[in-house]
Amino acid sequence: MAGRSVVVGVGHYLPERVVPNSEFEQTLDTTDEWIRTRSGIERRHFAAEGETTSDLATNAAKAALADAGLEADDIDAIVLATSTADLTFPSAATMVQARLGMTRGFAFDVQAVCAGFVFALSNANALILSGQAKRVLVIGAETFSRIMDWTDRSTCVLFGDGAGALILEEQDSAGTSNDRGILATDLNSDGRYQELLYVDGGVSTQSTGHLRMQGNQVFRHAVEKLAKTANTALDRAGLAASDVDWIVPHQANIRIIQGTAKKMGLPMENVVVTVQDHGNTSAASIPLALSVGKQRGQIKQGDLIVTEAIGGGLAWGAVVLRW
Ligand code: ACO
Repeated sequence: MAGRSVVVGVGHYLPERVVPNSEFEQTLDTTDEWIRTRSGIERRHFAAEGETTSDLATNAAKAALADAGLEADDIDAIVLATSTADLTFPSAATMVQARLGMTRGFAFDVQAVCAGFVFALSNANALILSGQAKRVLVIGAETFSRIMDWTDRSTCVLFGDGAGALILEEQDSAGTSNDRGILATDLNSDGRYQELLYVDGGVSTQSTGHLRMQGNQVFRHAVEKLAKTANTALDRAGLAASDVDWIVPHQANIRIIQGTAKKMGLPMENVVVTVQDHGNTSAASIPLALSVGKQRGQIKQGDLIVTEAIGGGLAWGAVVLRW
């Protein structure tokens, strides 16, 4: 028997304020129709004034703990994926640790932009497989509304705020692909593509900055790289796309989601889609989709899931798991 990282709880939190596409029509040269047809987005949530990434993350973490029937001190580590932490330091993860009342273990942030949750999940799995933790709370949380240029119609209509969390627990496993848990991961980055998607500010340049994106260039990379990383991870697990019950993709654009599913040879009936309601919540989008997918009754225990994401860096990757 070998140890394997099994999902034992999932939860999410969305800020109260819902912003429909029509709200942008009042300030920008755009239309609800353009946003819907080009991105699939209909609405998104924006954090209230003073509401921070660690607030959203703490609420999502509480929901995941409740789903698992666990207390904060049952957790050995928190890995939080975000590009929009409250402060330069400490990490948002340690803030969540304090807010949960967790008095032991360790917590840190992971920054891989929209691919952040896939990177966090893969690292949490490595912590478990290397014996450094038995239970890891993995969170994706973002307040991208804080880094939007509200005069740039090509970016500010696409993003939203939110958080999702899941709990991985080491369980004995027979180790076959029919057993529950994380089966394989694949991580990639290529820093030569920085100019396609970045924030033009940061601590060492003394500003917060705004998100800048060459959307159509990112789009070009997305479908090809996402299908490839998903297939690589499936290959490593000894599985094929035809074995997949659910693709749970990063929710950036419905056309990227459709294109990737098509390239993998899977119909949209096998894809969890939340982009219409959340917009692109960066590192939060996959755990949000996993939580909503479970709530909707789509994702059930034993289902084979492949998550895939790409974002600034470029950084991209995939995780194959049996729920
Ligand atoms: N309303 C109306 N028109 C607009 C808007 C808008 N909100 N935004 C852009 N346009 C215009 C452009 O100005 C352009 O006009 P022009 O032809 O006169 O120059 C036209 O629409 C077409 O622009 P494109 O950028 O070519 O449009 P495209 O079909 O590529 O859609 C989009 C744009 C939605 C951004 C798409 O490219 C996309 O989703 N890209 C990928 C984004 C992504 O996946 N990001 C993932 C990672 S995010 C992260 O890591 C943080």
